Parts: sequence; structure tokens; C-alpha cells
Amino acid sequence: MPGLRAPSDYSQEPPRHPALLVNSKEPYNAEPHRSALVSSYVTPVEFFYKRNHGPIPIIDDINKFSVSITGLIENPKELYMKDILKLPKYAVTATLQCAGNRRTAMSKTRKVRGVGWDIAAIGNAVWGGAKLADVLELIGIPKLSHISPCGGKHVEFVSIDKCKEENGGPYKASIPLSQATNPEADVLLAYEMNGETLNRDHGYPLRVIVPGVIGARSVKWLDSINIIAEECQGFFMQKDYKMFPPSVNWDNIDWSTRRPQMDFPVQSAICSLDDVNNLKPGKITIKGYAVSGGGRGIERVDVSIDGGKTWVEASKYQKTGVPYISDNESSDKWGWVLFAAEADIPESTEIVAKAVDIGGNVQPENVEVIWNLRGILNTSWHRVRVQIDCSNM
Ligand code: MTE
Repeated sequence: MPGLRAPSDYSQEPPRHPALLVNSKEPYNAEPHRSALVSSYVTPVEFFYKRNHGPIPIIDDINKFSVSITGLIENPKELYMKDILKLPKYAVTATLQCAGNRRTAMSKTRKVRGVGWDIAAIGNAVWGGAKLADVLELIGIPKLSHISPCGGKHVEFVSIDKCKEENGGPYKASIPLSQATNPEADVLLAYEMNGETLNRDHGYPLRVIVPGVIGARSVKWLDSINIIAEECQGFFMQKDYKMFPPSVNWDNIDWSTRRPQMDFPVQSAICSLDDVNNLKPGKITIKGYAVSGGGRGIERVDVSIDGGKTWVEASKYQKTGVPYISDNESSDKWGWVLFAAEADIPESTEIVAKAVDIGGNVQPENVEVIWNLRGILNTSWHRVRVQIDCSNM
């Protein structure tokens, strides 16, 4: 596409914050230290995890940049930035989470394949952009459509980056047309992140944001939108980001038996403590994040300071001065909640967190029961160790 260009090597990567923990250099995959996530409700752009499958694309001339809309539609269209900027602008606060978040911990049970992530392949941002439902209306697909006038049932987003999994082809993914045309699903073509122009790592000039769904479907550096009859047949939809049972291994896997993962399940993690902490006895504040997919709010976060025998309920918050009520209009439906609980820790112990969403879904106790060969969706209770040191007291 004129205007947007995909390098074949990593010599033109953007600058990044030196404090990020790099899990893979080329392609660049990095997360902040977990403690950065609980410093603010909205994650600063420089500390937002970065998940890439190839070199970062470059814009030569933003005025030449356009997105082609093709496929099962009567009149294919080129949409320029100026056309997108003319549409009503929405600001949607949404948590983006990589399906591989917490993979390193899953790999400790039994080895899995994929980039290792601690608990910070997740962030909460205010995304600014046009609603996909408004864009699709421009090409003659009405709001709340399950099928387009020409028989399309899925909306495919195609990027321009060169991914080795696609044999050098671009990253792509799709969502159902019913979600794409539903204004309440808040699917965006985003050009801003936290009030600033999107940066290169996060998809400049235009990316998709699919709230409540694993990050893999929020395609960056959007190049074309195709209206198609079947879901996207790309690698990342058909041969990756699917959840298999623990019995499936690399010898007996049949990718066609599972659907591409869309919503993410209820998740929480403690961010104010490392995996192992050496502390003096006394009071501590346990802080972390909790979030669920599909717009399901967080009903409760339980914290245990005795390895899960007894529990206390943590307080939850989003915006300062606004009490968090899970399904209330004042709450950010697609955003995470941060939680906090005070505890007196007299002796060495295991601290645990688990969340419950408004559907009553609870995180599973152990990672073994949800182990899967690609190491996705590790939502098991999050546990950290505290070793109390009474010397010199
Ligand atoms: N889009 C493109 N074009 N290329 C990619 O590698 N990675 C996906 C998604 N969109 C990806 C992409 C994955 S797996 C995730 S988790 C999110 O982008 C990460 O978005 P971020 O880097 O802005 O945090």
C-alpha cells in the first residue's frame, strides 16, 4: 500500500523504554516489570507490552496512506486517513491482553512452545478512533448485520508486516460481522492511544481494537479490510491462538478440531510482589489487576495469605473518585480493575489472588488442569511466595 511500508529486517525499529523486559529481540516482544501495571489505571504507552511477529512497518507519507475495503461488497473503497478522521471519534478504555500472558509459569508445569511472558503481557489504554460499525456503514453494511447484502459473515483485517509464520506474508485475523457491526461491541479503528497519536510499535497509523477479546485479533498497521464468507484462514487464526485440552501434544494435534480463541477468560494477578519476596514481618498492601473478556465486569477479587485456605475480599477501583460497580454505566466495561488488600504477614507464606466475573466465572485453582501445548490463557490462581526474615529484629 502506498504510504505504508514493511521492512524485511530489524534495522529501522522504533526507540523503546530501556526498563522494558525483553522476551525476544527480533521480533521485539517486551513487557514492563509487573509493578509498573499498578502505578496507574491507564498504562503509560512506554510501559505497555509490545507483541510483534515481524519488523515494525514504516509510514513514508501519511497523506498517501489508505485502507482498502474489499471482498463481498458491491463497491470496494479506499479509505484515507482524512475519511476516517471525519467519522465520529470515540474514546474507549479497554484492556489488551496477549493470550500468552503468564506463559512462563505454565511452562514450569510442563514445557510449552511460544514467547515466555511473565504477568505483564497486558495493559489498559484509552483508544481513540472511529467505530468499525460506522466504517462498514459507509460501504453499505447496516449496523447489527449478521450477513452482508453480498453474503459476507466475517470481517478480515490484513496488515502489512512480514511474519515468518505466514512465510513472509502479513499478519491477519477476523471477527464475526455481527460483532463488527454492533456499535456496542466498541470495535475501533484506532489512531490514538492515551490521547496521543498511536506510536509505531502499537500500530501507527491505524490499528484495530477488539475489546474483550485476546490481543491477537487487534490487528496493527491495518492495510485492508475484507468482507468474507468464512473466518480468516491465516496462520494466527487457524494454526495458533487456539485452546487445546491437556491431552493434546505435538504428535496428535489436529488444529481443525478447535475454533480460534476470541474472548479471554477471567484473569487476575498480583503485581506489587515478585514471585519470591524477602520481607520483614508486618503490614503490606497486596495490589494487582483483574479483568474478564466479553465485557464481563469483575464481581470480586479474593486474596489469601495462607496459600488459599482462607480469603479476604480486596477493594477494587478504576477511576479516582468513582466507585467501581461491575455492571454500572459509570464503570469502564472493557477496562481492568485494580485491586488492593492490606495484610499482616507474621511468617513465611504463599499469597494468592483469584477473581470472579459478573458471570460467576472463577479462575481455576491449578495450572495443570488448563495446561495446553501453546501455553495460552494461563488464568490459574496467581501465587507469590513471601519469606519472612526475623533476623536483626
Ligand atoms: N498485528 C500485527 N499486524 N502484527 C502482530 O504481530 N500481534 C498481535 C496483535 N496485532 C500483531 C498484531 C498480538 S498477538 C497482540 S497480543 C497484540 O497485537 C499486541 O498489541 P501491542 O503490541 O500494541 O500491545
